Amino acid sequence: MTDLFNEAKSLFPYTQSLRRDFHMHPELGFKEIRTGGIVAKELEALGIEVTKGVGKTGVVGLLEGGKPGPVLLLRFDMDALPILEDTGAEYASQNSGIMHACGHDGHTAIGLTVAKILNAHKNEIAGTIKFCFQPSEEGFNGEEVGGAEMMMKDGVLENPKVDMSLSLHLWNEKPLGWINVAKGPVMAGAEEFKVKIIGKGGHGAIPEAAVDPVVCAAQIVSAAQTIVSRNVSPTQTAVVSFTMINGGTAFNIIPQEVTMEGTIRTFEPRVRETVVRRFEELIKGVASAMGCQAEVNVNRISPALINADEVTAKVQDTASRVLPQATHDNSPYLTMGAEDMAFMQEKIAGCYFFIGSNNAEKHLDYGHHHPKFDFDEQALVSGVALMSAAVMDILK
Ligand code: NI
Repeated sequence: MTDLFNEAKSLFPYTQSLRRDFHMHPELGFKEIRTGGIVAKELEALGIEVTKGVGKTGVVGLLEGGKPGPVLLLRFDMDALPILEDTGAEYASQNSGIMHACGHDGHTAIGLTVAKILNAHKNEIAGTIKFCFQPSEEGFNGEEVGGAEMMMKDGVLENPKVDMSLSLHLWNEKPLGWINVAKGPVMAGAEEFKVKIIGKGGHGAIPEAAVDPVVCAAQIVSAAQTIVSRNVSPTQTAVVSFTMINGGTAFNIIPQEVTMEGTIRTFEPRVRETVVRRFEELIKGVASAMGCQAEVNVNRISPALINADEVTAKVQDTASRVLPQATHDNSPYLTMGAEDMAFMQEKIAGCYFFIGSNNAEKHLDYGHHHPKFDFDEQALVSGVALMSAAVMDILK
């Protein structure tokens, strides 16, 4: 099994050159034309059957093993972010204002290297591998849904029907050598909310003739803090964050209305239901008590990402064998970030794992989405080795 680690290591120059090329030429969600083109070309060069345009710019490769068995989907996201890069790296972005600041360049490079390894071992594989190179993980980018849902609309989970999935994230919150494969929830479900408080405008000096939506909004922001502290059990978690408040045009005018936006994050479906219900009740109640009207819209961005026990147990087992030198952390690792792989894992059993990638000595320890974000490329080897070995173990 450690052979696969050596195979991953010997292919490092290939992985690294792909990663650096993607890093230099980042593309935003649903615009991954160049990236998807390289992905398709590399897969085709291996003789893997390729379908382009799945979920707009997504690419799917199908590799049949030598023996029959289940269908395993491997997902790698390809999109970059609207950030002006400030790493000073020799392979820095050449598309000004667009940057691979989350490591998806690394994920795409890992995916192509895994394809190369598994293709060489296909006779030993009992089952089918569906390589899913996904666009637009970071947001909807003007579309109604993000990349994972867009690919699902185009049937990525069908023909052949997918039984299980594996996916990963390079993780700069943790150092190189740290590997987390955890059962249960790993990333939060995310909602986006928009609230409008409607009062009655008037003169700032004559408040008794107006109904002030600014004071009402302030009460709502304060009152909403009690949802997490008073309605959610202390042993569970949730976030309610107001991130935008807009209202008013001048110092002496009480405005007609105030709008507020923000996000709710939860892991458990029941906690989510409670938080969303209390959020609406509380806003309408406070608004009504203060003589205002409230419009509340809560839209789901993605469900929580939950790892299935059985497939995760297999990956945990594989990880300790293929990466014996690593620090294996199989404890629950909950991050409040959202991840649209959650839509696929709502339908099929999956395991999403984290590969520690920071290196403070090399100053490669900025967080995800920071203009100086970069990771230690040795993490690519761990990602390739663990993903390839997990497939070989699952499709034995
Ligand atoms: Ni990411």
